[in-house]
Amino acid sequence: MTTKEHTVVHEAHNVNARQAPEHFYKSQPGKGYITSMDQYYKMYNESINNPDAFFSKMAKEYLHWDRPFTKVQTGSIEKGDSAWFLNGELNAAYNCVDRHAFENPDKTAIIYEADDEKENRIITFGELLKQVSEVAGVLQSWGVKKGDTVAVYLPMIPEAVVAMLAVARLGAIHTVVFAGFSAGSLKDRVVDAGCKVVITCDEGKRGGKTVNTKKIVDEGLNGVDSVSRILVFQRTGTEGIPMRAGRDFWWHEETKKQRGYLPPVSCNSEDPLFLLYTSGSTGAPKGIVHTTGGYLLGAALTTRYVFDIHPEDVLFTAGDVGWITGHTYALYGPLALGTATIIFESTPAYPDYGRYWRIIERHRATHFYVAPTALRLIKRVGEAEIPKYDTSSLRVLGSVGEPIAPDLWEWYHDKIGNKNCVICDTMWQTESGSHLIAPLAGAVPTKPGSATVPFFGVNACIIDPVSGVELEGNDVEGVLAVKSAWPSMARSVWDNHDRYIDTYLKPYPGYYFTGDGAGRDHDGYYWIRGRVDDVVNVSGHRLSTAEIETSLVANDNVSESAVVGIHDDLTGQAVVAFVSLKNSDYIQENATEGDANHVTPDALRRELVLHVRSEIGPFAAPKTVILVRDLPKTRSGKIMRRILRKVASNEADQLGDLSTIANAEIVPSIISAVETQFFNAKKK
Ligand code: WTA
Repeated sequence: MTTKEHTVVHEAHNVNARQAPEHFYKSQPGKGYITSMDQYYKMYNESINNPDAFFSKMAKEYLHWDRPFTKVQTGSIEKGDSAWFLNGELNAAYNCVDRHAFENPDKTAIIYEADDEKENRIITFGELLKQVSEVAGVLQSWGVKKGDTVAVYLPMIPEAVVAMLAVARLGAIHTVVFAGFSAGSLKDRVVDAGCKVVITCDEGKRGGKTVNTKKIVDEGLNGVDSVSRILVFQRTGTEGIPMRAGRDFWWHEETKKQRGYLPPVSCNSEDPLFLLYTSGSTGAPKGIVHTTGGYLLGAALTTRYVFDIHPEDVLFTAGDVGWITGHTYALYGPLALGTATIIFESTPAYPDYGRYWRIIERHRATHFYVAPTALRLIKRVGEAEIPKYDTSSLRVLGSVGEPIAPDLWEWYHDKIGNKNCVICDTMWQTESGSHLIAPLAGAVPTKPGSATVPFFGVNACIIDPVSGVELEGNDVEGVLAVKSAWPSMARSVWDNHDRYIDTYLKPYPGYYFTGDGAGRDHDGYYWIRGRVDDVVNVSGHRLSTAEIETSLVANDNVSESAVVGIHDDLTGQAVVAFVSLKNSDYIQENATEGDANHVTPDALRRELVLHVRSEIGPFAAPKTVILVRDLPKTRSGKIMRRILRKVASNEADQLGDLSTIANAEIVPSIISAVETQFFNAKKK
C-alpha cells in the first residue's frame, strides 16, 4: 500500500470541552480515581517518559504474578519484536477468577441476561471458579495443554466466558469465533489456528429465534480432521442434536466427572492468551495474537481508569464475546478487577425496545458500553421506552466501534444519561487490545464527537499520509499512528509474522499504523475520521471489502467484483457491491423461473446477497448488488473503488480527475446502473 492512498477528510472542530456533570462525583462519594486533567497529564507524561517505572508499578498493583518479571520491556516497533514483563509468570484465569473467589466467593461475577428474561442467572466468583476448573479438567483430560489452540463458537452466554477462562487456565490459546459467522468462516478460522478442540452448544437463542449452532459446527468441521473433540453445552436441550460418537461430548456429562478445583498453569507473560480473527484490507482474516501479561494489564488498566470502575460497580458491555469488545470489556477487564459483568444474550429490540433499560434498572448497572449503531436504532424507533425505566444507577456511558456523531453523543448524554453521566467515546481496535484514545471518566473534559486523549502508554501521533512525516503540534490532520509499544498491543499475526509487519509496521516505518484517519485539534484532542483502507464498518462490525469480493467472485457467473462502503444513517456504513458478469446474456429481464441459462437481474442480485450471507455471515451481506458491464480500472488494471464509492454515494458530479481511468467510457453506464438498480429501487 502506498501512503498516498490514505486520503483523509478535513473537518473543523471548534467545540469547547465539558467537565463531568456534578452528579458523577456527588452521587457516588469516593468515585473518580483520577479527578483532573492535570492529574491525567502527569500520569500520561510519566507513562510515556518513563514507561518502565510506570508499567512496572501498575503491573505489580493490578496483576497477580506467580513469578515476578525481571525486565519491563524489550524490542521495538521498528523491528516488530516488542515484549513486556519478561520472565514474569502468571495465569489469566487465576487473575480473573481465583483471587476474587478466595477473597469473597459470594461476590457476583457474571449477571446473565438470557434471551428470555425468565432464564436470567447470577454466577458468583466461587461458582465461576468451580465451572472454569471443571471445563479445564475436561480439556486437560483430552490432552489440551499449554500452547494448544481451542476454538470457542458460542453465543453470548456465561459458558462462553467459562470456556475462554478454562482454556486460559491451562495456558492454552482460545480463539473465539463470533457465533454469527457461517460454517465456512468457522472452518477457515479453525483450520488457520490449527484447533484440536472446539467448544460450542446445541442451539442458540436470539431475539426469540433458535439458531442451529451445532449444525453449523458440524457443517464447518466436515472434513477438518485436526479437530478430535467437540464439547457441546446444552443451551436449549432440544432433542435429536446429532452427536458423533468419539468426537462430540456433552458439557454437562463431562464436567460432572471433574473436580471443582484444578490448579491453574503458570504462563510466561509473553505466552499467547488468545487469537482473534479480524478483517484487513487484503486477503484472508488475520489471527491477531494477544499475549497474557501485557494484554491483561491493558484490559485491567483501561477498565479501571477510563471507565472509573470500582469493585462494587456493575458493567454492562453490550458487545459480543465474539469480538474484541466482548473479550476486553465483558470478560478480562471487569473480571481482572473483580467487578460484575453483564452477559447479554439477546438484542436491544427483544422482546421490546425497553430491554437495555430494563437490564440497567434490574441490576443497577453503573456502566453501559455500546456501539453507536444500537443507539441510532433506539433513537429512531425505541425512544419512547427510555423514560419508563429507572436508569439513575448509571455513571458512565461508553461508545465504541465507530465514530459517534455529535448529535448522537448529545442524545446519549441527555436521553440515556439524563445529563448525569460521563460519555466515554473509546477508540481502539482488535489489534490494540484495549483503549487507545479515550477520556478518563470524570478527569478528562469531553467534546461530543471526539475520543479525546490517548490512554497511558499510548504514544499517539498524526502522520501526514502523503509525505509519511509525523505532524507535530496541534491542529493537524492525517492518519493515526502510535510511536512506541504499549503493553496490550498485538504481538503478531498467527503463523504469519511477516503479515503483521507488513500491515501495521511497514506503512510508516517506526510507527504502528492504525488504519484510521484522524485529526488533533487545538487542545490536543483526537477526532477519528474512519478507516483509510479498504475496511468497511457496518453496525460496528469490521468487514474487509476484499473478503466480500472474494466471496462474490466465487459465484460461477461473476467475473469481477468491487465492494465499497457508503454512508448509512442506521448502520454507519453500508456495503455496496459492484459486480460484472462472465456472460452478460445470463441476465434477462423476462427470464422465467427454471431457465438454466438465464435469470432476471433481481434474482441474481438476491442470489449474490444470499451467497455472501451464507459464505461469511448475515452481518456482511451487501445492502445492494449493482450489476455493471465492467469496472473502472487504471491502466495497470487496478479497480478504482474511489469512483464507485462516489457514484454509490450520489456524488457522481464530484468524480474529480478521470484521466487515470483506462476505460473511462464505461463510467456513464455505471452511473445509470446505480440510478436504476439502487437509487430508484430505494424510492420504490
Ligand atoms: C473503528 C473495535 C471511531 C476504527 C473496538 C478502528 C472507532 C476499528 C472507534 C477497529 C471510535 C473503533 N471512534 N472509530 N470510538 N472505535 N473504531 O477491530 O476504524 O472491530 O480502526 O475493534 O473500528 O475495529 P475492531
